[in-house]
Amino acid sequence: MNEIVSQTLSAGGYLKQAPEVRARFDRMKARDVLLEVKSLGKTFRSKAGTTVALSDINFQTHRREFLCIVGPSGCGKSTLIRILAGLEDQTSGQVLLGGKPVKGPGKDRGMVFQGYTLFPWLTVKKNVMFGLEVNGMSRFEAETQARQWLSLIGLDKFAEAYPHQLSGGMKQRVAIVRALANQPRILLMDEPFGALDAQTRTRMQAHLLEIWRKIDITIVFITHDLDEAIMLADRILVLKPHPGEVQELIEVPVPRPRSEAQCGSEEFNVTRKRLEELIYAHGTDDHEAEEDDASVYASLARLTDINDNVE
Ligand SMILES: Nc1ncnc2c1ncn2[C@@H]1O[C@H](COP(=O)(O)OP(=O)(O)O)[C@@H](O)[C@H]1O
Ligand SMILES: [Mg+2]
Repeated sequence: MNEIVSQTLSAGGYLKQAPEVRARFDRMKARDVLLEVKSLGKTFRSKAGTTVALSDINFQTHRREFLCIVGPSGCGKSTLIRILAGLEDQTSGQVLLGGKPVKGPGKDRGMVFQGYTLFPWLTVKKNVMFGLEVNGMSRFEAETQARQWLSLIGLDKFAEAYPHQLSGGMKQRVAIVRALANQPRILLMDEPFGALDAQTRTRMQAHLLEIWRKIDITIVFITHDLDEAIMLADRILVLKPHPGEVQELIEVPVPRPRSEAQCGSEEFNVTRKRLEELIYAHGTDDHEAEEDDASVYASLARLTDINDNVE
């Protein structure tokens, strides 16, 4: 086999799916489309100038799908998820959730972002109860449910603790169940583990997959950590920089259940290789961008006291 042919074959290796993986995708695609993004565009206009952050974004997410979105820094990932959350208006196009246009924030969408968004003055249990009571649940019922959620993530012993008494990973676990307690149809996550150290991050990925396996939730998860995307996703949406456009939607061929042991597997490596080709193909110096992000994380770490790995 000549070198070019063998390179082409190995480059396309991520398209090969074992029968059980293909069957899983078939089952996923047979489920209803929950989220539909159509010709979505976003342009920021200010005195400083005009920035096209997103241009003609199209994709669909099926119920119970785990979709990751990757792309270089500044390609519009956060803008996209803020539009899905209803925190930002699009300039053009449409977002449909369960067939209905998204207008403003809503109970049907839960959100977890990188910075810790727990109320520092409330206990862990009350943080989880908060949204439930706001939505009209009785205190007794809210407390019962909060306890169930905390036990699902193994934090029942910390129900009466305050956020500052928890490690970064524990805080994000609480933030996840707090979002899920309101029973959203979709969970929107923007680099939620970006500020955690590598070990905690790996554990959080396992926790999240465990939760996702147990409940009926669709997840849209943004990360610029390619390994994290492969570890978590059914499909990975790769965005192109400037302006953000969809470059490819990759079906991750790594079988489930996933574990850290799969990190060096052939399926994992060919997927990683394809993602690198796509992301570095545009000559973006994303290493520089990662350094920027690292310094942002470092300053966040100081602000939020997340270097305590007391888990
Ligand atoms: N509120 C805003 N006003 C003006 N420009 C913005 C605003 N938010 C984001 N942008 C610009 O939009 C582009 C995409 O940003 P963002 O969505 O944060 O990217 P990412 O999350 O992929 O790093 C960047 O060029 C950024 O500077
Ligand atoms: Mg961002």
